[in-house]
Amino acid sequence: MANLRIDRIRAAAAADLQAATTSAEAETVRVKYLGRQGEITQLLRSLASLPAAERPEVGRQANELKVEIDRLVGEKLALTRAAERRRELEAERPDLTLPGRRPPLGALHPLTRVDDEIVEIFIGLGFAVAEGPEVESEYNNFEALNIPRDHPARDMQDTFYLSEDTLLRTHTSPVQIRTMQAQRPPVRVICPGKVYRRDADITHSPMFHQVEGLAVDRDISMGDLKGTLELFAREMFGARSRIRFRPSFFPFTEPSAEVDVLCFLCGGGGCRVCKQSGWLEILGSGMVHPQVLRNVGYDPEEVTGWAFGMGVERVAMLKYGVDDIRLFFENDLRFLHQFA
Ligand code: PHE
Repeated sequence: MANLRIDRIRAAAAADLQAATTSAEAETVRVKYLGRQGEITQLLRSLASLPAAERPEVGRQANELKVEIDRLVGEKLALTRAAERRRELEAERPDLTLPGRRPPLGALHPLTRVDDEIVEIFIGLGFAVAEGPEVESEYNNFEALNIPRDHPARDMQDTFYLSEDTLLRTHTSPVQIRTMQAQRPPVRVICPGKVYRRDADITHSPMFHQVEGLAVDRDISMGDLKGTLELFAREMFGARSRIRFRPSFFPFTEPSAEVDVLCFLCGGGGCRVCKQSGWLEILGSGMVHPQVLRNVGYDPEEVTGWAFGMGVERVAMLKYGVDDIRLFFENDLRFLHQFA
């Protein structure tokens, strides 16, 4: 009787395990036979009621079956768990053929690009880059440049004063002074930088950028200035570009000239951008005033020089057809992306 019961349990357990296809089902089989109320457990508990002579043999077989079922369930669990893990990994597998997510690429600001372009052209001509502080002394910004305190030219450049004798530089010309104070001629420098004036409308920003040029040596003439700027204009605005000099006034240059470039939009015929004149004003220039040379300890009998100052925003507005200077500083990506 007992033997029959063992054989029946063995067969039933084998069939149950056979039918189990998931680890959860295998676990159910384990509970069904080996759990607290499991069939083997009950069988072992019932040994006590067997005749003493049968007990050892049936007990041995029941224990054997317990070990066997435990092993088979373990094997089944291992198999089903491995298969389940494989399916999980399969489902999670990344699709390596999907295109990656590209980080949005930035681009140089249009003013940086124009600034770099201007500076590169002069580096190509043998000029060195010089820079100076934006907080400047009243002396370097005005006095040394031959603009005394009551000179009407100070009104041309409405100034942000920080104290009686310090200010936000109104132009890059003080870098001329610093450069000449620091070295003997010959001097050839190009000076890019930010400048500040109390002024704000669609063509004026309280902070804007200039590039200053300065050349001082023996026998430097207005002809050198003209030749240099002609070459610059061709590099910057195209091979067919032309420039013209118009007499002007700056306290630190004599003679002084404003320089226009032939309107590259209409080729000189007249259009909206050049206001029908055919020409676009791009910079101020002139021969360095003898008093400025004396102020830095140079001898105007020995050396002469020329200087110019150019507005970077103005050049960029002309070059890219931008009609409001504030667009450069609002950081609207729709605007900036057009220069990428
Ligand atoms: N500093 C002048 C300005 O800001 C420009 C300039 C520079 C003119 C050098 C002549 C020579 O307007």
